[in-house]
Amino acid sequence: MGFAVGLAYNLKKDCPRSDTEVEDADAEFEEQSTVDRIAKALRARGHRIVKVPYRPGLLSRLQRLNVDIVFNIAEGWEGRCREAIVPAILESLGIPYTGSDPLTLAVCLDKAVTKAIISASGIPTPWCSKVSNVNELANLRVDSLKYPLFVKPAYEGSSKGVRSSSKVTDPVGLFDMVNWITTVYGQPALIEEFLPGREFTVGIVGNKEITAFPIMEVRPVAETEPESFVYCYDTKHNNLEQFLCPAPVTDELAAAILDVAIKSYRALECRDLARVDVRLDGTGVPNFLEINPLPGLSTVSLFPVTAMASGISFEELIDKILEVAATRTNVEARKVTQAQNQQVIAGQRHRTVPLRR
Ligand SMILES: Nc1ncnc2c1ncn2[C@@H]1O[C@H](COP(=O)(O)OP(=O)(O)OP(=O)(O)O)[C@@H](O)[C@H]1O
Ligand SMILES: [Mg+2]
Repeated sequence: MGFAVGLAYNLKKDCPRSDTEVEDADAEFEEQSTVDRIAKALRARGHRIVKVPYRPGLLSRLQRLNVDIVFNIAEGWEGRCREAIVPAILESLGIPYTGSDPLTLAVCLDKAVTKAIISASGIPTPWCSKVSNVNELANLRVDSLKYPLFVKPAYEGSSKGVRSSSKVTDPVGLFDMVNWITTVYGQPALIEEFLPGREFTVGIVGNKEITAFPIMEVRPVAETEPESFVYCYDTKHNNLEQFLCPAPVTDELAAAILDVAIKSYRALECRDLARVDVRLDGTGVPNFLEINPLPGLSTVSLFPVTAMASGISFEELIDKILEVAATRTNVEARKVTQAQNQQVIAGQRHRTVPLRR
């Protein structure tokens, strides 16, 4: 049965601009072409699409929305709860949507909060500390920290605020990176133990039953040693990375990476889809790095590429995401009930007409 599907998204061109803008300010938002491609894939399956751009007037647009379900890729503009905003509004309106709930989306955006849950679940993840400004470094006893460390914004994605210089080897480098992140990105910095090993990412779809797509390895193109490789803004911008999917790993390592990815998905109570980043520590043990419950769906995004490696086309992936969300929220049954209710209301109106005369 075809659904009426709302499609909620943030376009790069609508991103609020500021005078102090950095080059990656709009990195996590969508191009129109991505939105159009998702809409086309959904239409091809017989669904009717109502586009809901995240712009001024969003709230009233959502209040007027008459759809069976929303396909949500809206990131929101700012703050660590930004990804939770559209789902929270949809919950208040009783409209089902794809993806995780507001709590999971907000938790997963703050890497320190996420890692607290991951650690408590017994999943390996590097030590970290969150500081709001350089003055708070004094509380960390900077001289006793184990270098190298990695410094990144506490709640960004799409490599925003991550550069080759994020790996710091001494207190001066640490001070400079914390200073840069807290002033330029206006949020706390996460200081994390640096993981020197190979890097992987795992795409997951599903709920009670979940499917993990083939593991992808992200590697430097040139002779860069893994311990110096950082998959960051500079690397992406200069095409210095390569992707191997399925990753060339032993069965034992594959099982350990999948274990971290799937346990993390469960521990954070993700729904429908997510992409988990994993990196090996100095002893070769896979560690949880971060999770993306709203993974990118552009032509160059890693999530659809990992799906493709298991023979799932972009169109099939979009259909699968909608299908698992529709099953979880019982959209078919809701549609039938709504249609029956409308018939009853129409019938009552019909009967009451003569009485009013
Ligand atoms: N503790 C760490 N040790 C080593 N490298 C790290 C560490 N943390 C991050 N990195 C590197 O920086 C990259 C970006 O970090 P991270 O995945 O946390 O940021 P993100 O912006 O949320 O990523 P995404 O683009 O997946 O949304 C990682 O893919 C990895 O290469
Ligand atoms: Mg990442």
